[in-house]
Amino acid sequence: MRILVLGGGGREHALAWKLAQHSQLDKMFAAPGNAGIASLAECVPLDPADPKAVAKFAEDQGIELTVVGPEAPLVAGVADELIARELPVFGPTSAGARIESSKSWAKDLMARAGVPTAASESFARVEDAMSFVDSLTPPYVVKADGLAAGKGVLICESRADAEAALRLCLEDRAFGEAGSTVVVEEFLEGVELSLFCLTDGASVLPLVEARDFKRAYDGDAGPNTGGMGAYSPVPDAAGVVRSLRSLVFEPTVEALSAEGIRYVGVLYAGLMLTADGPKVLEFNARFGDPETQVVIPRLDGDLADLLVACAEGRLDGVSAAWTSKACVTVVLASQNYPESSPVGFDISGLDIASRMRDVVVFHAGTRLDGARAVTAGGRVLAVSALGADLSAARARAYEAANMIEFVGKRSRSDIAATASGEA
Ligand code: AMP
Ligand code: GLY
Repeated sequence: MRILVLGGGGREHALAWKLAQHSQLDKMFAAPGNAGIASLAECVPLDPADPKAVAKFAEDQGIELTVVGPEAPLVAGVADELIARELPVFGPTSAGARIESSKSWAKDLMARAGVPTAASESFARVEDAMSFVDSLTPPYVVKADGLAAGKGVLICESRADAEAALRLCLEDRAFGEAGSTVVVEEFLEGVELSLFCLTDGASVLPLVEARDFKRAYDGDAGPNTGGMGAYSPVPDAAGVVRSLRSLVFEPTVEALSAEGIRYVGVLYAGLMLTADGPKVLEFNARFGDPETQVVIPRLDGDLADLLVACAEGRLDGVSAAWTSKACVTVVLASQNYPESSPVGFDISGLDIASRMRDVVVFHAGTRLDGARAVTAGGRVLAVSALGADLSAARARAYEAANMIEFVGKRSRSDIAATASGEA
């Protein structure tokens, strides 16, 4: 099989690492890839969000499966173009990706599907939004409708803060067009959970659950980031995970189908586990990062077979096998992350950490400088380790992470600490 992976972060390295274990793999390409992916695939200078360029490459190279990592290529219509040329793709069309690219559209879809989620309404005018704010109790949640690089959610403690947030989005256009509509919603109290579900547009296959750590510093302090670490399984979610197939994923795929959308790919539900049961905070049209770096190492079966089954519309009856081992990933970030940081620093200790049993070092923001990997982004590496339980996996992940050095290296020290009984 000839595979093309679009993207170049830790999520894509984890996907490429597992896809590389497919017994029938002939050749893998990645666009743009990174220094870690380069050891598994040929990295090509192709714009992953250019539908025509991607489709031409896939056609010319006889690609039998294109796996789309990030949301931008999906929103740009890469899957649409591949489907038009009858090239197999794992990832939804641009219409399907609206579930991530428009929060108001996603909320309407959830309402039609009867999926539990925070009460909300969408607005284009501050005054209208304020009358809804006045029907809620603080804190208030104001969300830019469109993609805002993870920065479009504002939690407001007071009515005045909510009004300022609405003006920031709707009048100052702080998030550009993404904020020309806002969703105002009820604040949900609880703990968060990430659950990915594969689908071929009709059948669903939920994967194992994970939890990520979005804040920059220990104790959930500091700004939101793409994610500083993750773990799986999530013991406090054990009672609800099974229910999410029929509560969330089946009705969502049915509602998409009723819209005329055959959604092929992953539906990523970001959930709040509340006293009233699980509620969807948001859907994403892609795998999460860094949750993928703990979910994929736990998969015992073949990933390529699962993704091809989705692309070919024959997921019905397909199951996935999982190791009972736990997995923890610790992100090693550049000094100022999530603000921009100097890059281009040598990374030492990669070989010795990667050779540890049950450890995989996934590259996120790295590039090759000659034969050496150097830092090239905010999140540099995601160090994943399996262990008999979360405590063992966590110890091993930190042991490996401590062997790696680069200028300005920063990580959280409390990933999976509470869940493994160490905090
Ligand atoms: P989202 O991009 O919608 O997942 O929001 C980003 C983060 O904001 C979530 O991971 C939550 O931590 C927080 N958040 C979003 N919506 C709510 C809500 N309704 N209640 C409480 N926290 C929320
Ligand atoms: N880990 C959060 C995300 O991928 O959006």
